[in-house]
Amino acid sequence: MDGLSWISPPPQVEPILEETVRMNFGLASEPLVGALLRILAASKPGGRFLELGTGTGVATAWLLSGMTAGSTLVSVDIDPAAQAIAARFLGNDPRLHLVNAGGLDYLATLPPESFDLVFADAMPGKYENLNLSLACLKPGGFWVGDDLLPQPNWPEGHAAKVPALIGELSRHPRFTILPLAWASGGGGGSEVPGIGEITQ
Ligand SMILES: C[S@@+](CC[C@H](N)C(=O)[O-])C[C@H]1O[C@@H](n2cnc3c(N)ncnc32)[C@H](O)[C@@H]1O
Repeated sequence: MDGLSWISPPPQVEPILEETVRMNFGLASEPLVGALLRILAASKPGGRFLELGTGTGVATAWLLSGMTAGSTLVSVDIDPAAQAIAARFLGNDPRLHLVNAGGLDYLATLPPESFDLVFADAMPGKYENLNLSLACLKPGGFWVGDDLLPQPNWPEGHAAKVPALIGELSRHPRFTILPLAWASGGGGGSEVPGIGEITQ
């Protein structure tokens, strides 16, 4: 089954992807990842969401499209040029707060148990200080990380970090995980006793 043929992306994704190609940004999230994020966002009415690594705003658009009116999304990136694309196409959505900062600096400011979902799509909070992004999840919250299947653009030494990350998540006393071997692959989890176990 071609799952993608059943999925309608939010309207902002197409123009964002055009700009993403134009600026040669090669790290945008894939549609199945976006669709997963959208349904997880929809499962938390009034939820608080955090994206680490806005990029040009592809996953940001998918998350916003699943969120209820009373939900909020903070999306953090260190790269102002990429994030400016997200601001151009999504910045008029009052639910979105774009933060231009280092992920670790931002995570360090967060009170514990303050978000319903973290999309960890940058090194900070995923391969660096995973504990910080897990600690900011509320009970029942979802942590989603992608790009866990081998990618041609991985830097030297990165491949060994992936099983270490999945292993750490699998042993974590607060979380249960579901590795999903599709799109760019992933691993993550929902807090026990969450309903679904999530990753991509
Ligand atoms: C995989 S891309 C994000 C893709 C985006 N979430 C999407 O859906 O298309 C990773 C992003 O992390 C950002 N990044 C890299 N190092 C960072 C850091 N230390 N703090 C915050 N963001 C960082 C990069 O600028 C890049 O935009």
